[in-house]
Amino acid sequence: MIQFDVITIFPEIFKGFVSESLLARGQKKKIIRIGLHNLRKWTTDKHKTVDDNPYGGGPGMVLKIEPIFKAVKSIELKVKSKRSKNVKPKTYNLKQRVILFSPRGKKLTQELAKKWAKLDQLIFICGRYEGVDERVADYIADEVISIGDYVLNGGEVAAMAVIESVSRLIPGFIAKKESAQKADHAQYTRPEVFIMGKKRLKVPKVLLSGDHKKIKEWRKNII
Ligand code: ADE
Repeated sequence: MIQFDVITIFPEIFKGFVSESLLARGQKKKIIRIGLHNLRKWTTDKHKTVDDNPYGGGPGMVLKIEPIFKAVKSIELKVKSKRSKNVKPKTYNLKQRVILFSPRGKKLTQELAKKWAKLDQLIFICGRYEGVDERVADYIADEVISIGDYVLNGGEVAAMAVIESVSRLIPGFIAKKESAQKADHAQYTRPEVFIMGKKRLKVPKVLLSGDHKKIKEWRKNII
């Protein structure tokens, strides 16, 4: 079981995402757990302020460090050890990682997803607006991650990408009859011929031949 915790000012964005298809099934089967946390919960003023003007001036607002720090501290799983007389509490280390999303971060790769799939908990800090106080990257997050060379409105879509790519690697998340890896060759299904205007789009003959050796050979050569 891996626990994902998302800290965001837009938890509603995730509602449909976490309650459909494989992610819904994974949660039901207790293979993954997903916690959604509104950053405003950790503010103390009546306006629930999460951002402020940048020091040194400039346009836009910057997410403040205090609520993010409090959120991470309260969400971090702690080892529960039952103390009883004369019995030393069992101690083991939880494997956790705090990830901040930013277009300036290290690129997400399948290799990283594989490493993270072995953890107990991943905490995601979704940046928004023009930025996040840099001390979050320096002192709170273990890693700063980007999902590609483009700028999103915030880290929410990035968090979804990580949740999906990591979940798929957790044993049991993908049923045996489904495939964990995408096919690395071209695929076709019915109809054999699709008429598109004046064009007849045909399925390669070899796939209809029933000759598995030939099909295997064809798949090796076609990417
Ligand atoms: N926030 C904004 N753009 C992003 C990106 N490309 N990756 C991760 N977080 C982001």
